[in-house]
Amino acid sequence: MTQKIDRRNLLKSGLMAIGGMTLAPHLSMGAFANTDLSLDPENRIYRSPMVREHFLDKKPDLSKMIRIGANENPYGPPKSAQKAVAESVAGGNRYAWKEMSDLVDKIAKKEGVSKDYIMMGPGSSDLLEKVALVLFMHGGNIVSADPCYMSLVQVAKSVGATWKAVPVTENHSHDLKAMEAAVDKDTKLVYICNPNNPTGAITTGKDLLDFCSRVSEKVPIFVDEAYIELAVGADTESMVGLLQKNKNVIVARTFSKIMGMAGIRVGYIAAQPAFIKQIEKITRGGMGISYTSIAAASAAIDDSEFQVMTRKLNHEAKTYLLANLDKMGYKYIPSYTNFVIFPINMPGKDMLTKLAAKNISCRAFDIQNKPWLRVSIGTMDEMKSFVSALGTIS
Ligand SMILES: Cc1ncc(COP(=O)(O)O)c(C=O)c1O
Repeated sequence: MTQKIDRRNLLKSGLMAIGGMTLAPHLSMGAFANTDLSLDPENRIYRSPMVREHFLDKKPDLSKMIRIGANENPYGPPKSAQKAVAESVAGGNRYAWKEMSDLVDKIAKKEGVSKDYIMMGPGSSDLLEKVALVLFMHGGNIVSADPCYMSLVQVAKSVGATWKAVPVTENHSHDLKAMEAAVDKDTKLVYICNPNNPTGAITTGKDLLDFCSRVSEKVPIFVDEAYIELAVGADTESMVGLLQKNKNVIVARTFSKIMGMAGIRVGYIAAQPAFIKQIEKITRGGMGISYTSIAAASAAIDDSEFQVMTRKLNHEAKTYLLANLDKMGYKYIPSYTNFVIFPINMPGKDMLTKLAAKNISCRAFDIQNKPWLRVSIGTMDEMKSFVSALGTIS
């Protein structure tokens, strides 16, 4: 049983700031911001049949904390993007039609498609939400893994979709067989997050390619590749190549992770032109991205040095963290992202509280009623602080 969060419940559980609309700290974070918020009887946020999330009673002041909760890139924005923002701001009195068109040109070239396959958004969240609104405003069902990243699913549910949640396999991959079996005549979309959030696990490229090729003949497949550039050593690949084979896939990418620009807000989807046209019907000219953000994205996409550096430093800091988790006896899920999730031996809220007392912000989930901690990969110094804090918590 879950209960809807209404105003009284918010006040009761101390989630609402006086006179404001501030939700529980984690509810107000983009990663899981949604419209269908509910608490279960234990005052955890209900995410899915499998997943509940803990939150602190008092909103922490993130500006004073080591922020390893939202899978941000600690090295960004790239200097090249910062310079582009500074130089473009004086042009902010004009609409950035040409600059946007130039950016789409670059992205289309990178993805090996023509411009009509690309739709831009202020972060990929915006596009996940728009796709959900357009496809599900007349109902239908969505098939996805559980656990998975919930933005698209939540918006789909909030406009009336039914969610068919398919538990992940033992090794935390998408259960592609079961997902295919879950598709029926009312299915409007299959959502795949690869690598997945909050697990950090991958679904291997060959299996996913076969699945997307076959199942997209029946229903569009949305593949969220927010972390794919960080999947060092993974046996997987982008599904974007399927577009040239006329497959009905939608691939979402973001500038928030490898490019280090979560607060600058740029993302895109690559999809069949007919699909893009369908989604564009609810927008007006695609001008939701600021002049300065377009300039930043245009610089960042060319800055392969920054991307290589991020990948390397993320890998090094993650390797350090995992070695120390090994030493402390924590059994984590192998991660192909910039975060790691592992079971802990105390209630998630207690862990969050103890870490917050050491100025560290993470995320705590109950997955099938067992407590887990999700830690984003920060700088090496931040990982050292986290490891030493975790070592003293019991
Ligand atoms: C899997 C996944 N998709 C999409 C997003 C949204 O990213 P953004 O809206 O910043 O592009 C996130 C953010 O954490 C994510 O984890």
